[in-house]
Amino acid sequence: MRRWRSRQRGGAVGFVPTMGGLHEGHLSLTRACRAECARVVVSVYVNPTQFNSADDLCRYPRNLERDAAALEAEGVNILFAPSDKEMYPAGYSTYVEVEGQLTAGLCGASRPGHFRGVTTVVSKLFHLVCPDRAYFGQKDAQQLAVIRRMALDMNWSVQIVGIPTVRDSDGLALSSRNALLSKSERRQARELYAALDAARRSALEGERRAFVLQNGIAERINALENARLEYAELVDPDTFEPCASLKKRTLAAAAAYFGSVRLIDNVLIEIDGAAHGEHGGTS
Ligand code: PAF
Repeated sequence: MRRWRSRQRGGAVGFVPTMGGLHEGHLSLTRACRAECARVVVSVYVNPTQFNSADDLCRYPRNLERDAAALEAEGVNILFAPSDKEMYPAGYSTYVEVEGQLTAGLCGASRPGHFRGVTTVVSKLFHLVCPDRAYFGQKDAQQLAVIRRMALDMNWSVQIVGIPTVRDSDGLALSSRNALLSKSERRQARELYAALDAARRSALEGERRAFVLQNGIAERINALENARLEYAELVDPDTFEPCASLKKRTLAAAAAYFGSVRLIDNVLIEIDGAAHGEHGGTS
């Protein structure tokens, strides 16, 4: 990877880190990268340090051959798929951690150590690929904010680009984990986005109390037969501080289990005449 990188002259190198199980959401990242960069590198690596359950790690969808074919069809220049031994050789002991509010709540609270694993692996991948721009999905809004913070704090010169969530026709955000849902779980999983979107609509109609909107999301998910809400929270989209009442921009984020499959999603609520929808941009 380093040898290839040192030979690249002229034009930006763009990078899309993934854990494989590629779907249209990932491909939208590679397409954005392709449109803006001379070279596109995609990594496929199921990073063990960001899983806090051995079962979840074991079940995570893997199909490198299929992923490689999809990336080739997209014109990706380099598929980087390191092994566990290469990424975490015997004696490995160094971790990168973003502290404070950004990692304290939501997925940080329900998956202890998760973001430490993400920032460690992304930091290692940045060192190996040395990208000019790196692309991440807004479905993982907290991860995106944590990586932006890490890039800033650690003086990375890489530009972090957030790309809007890609959804199925019924609103379900595309995720590699969707492949693990049974038919009935898949039917119920659409409620995750529906509940978040209902909270957004209710906010646009005038409801400003976060607990009312959060309870609305919880009631809708917990009413389902095979679902269990892990969290539904309204937070500042930049700092991830919980909000008691809505601000101009508030992120409604939720995580829920459908059967044994954990899914996350979020919706940006913009009030005071601002357009609603996905949140984007670069830093
Ligand atoms: O979003 C993901 O797929 C992973 O968290 C990432 C960024 C590739 C790090 O393993």
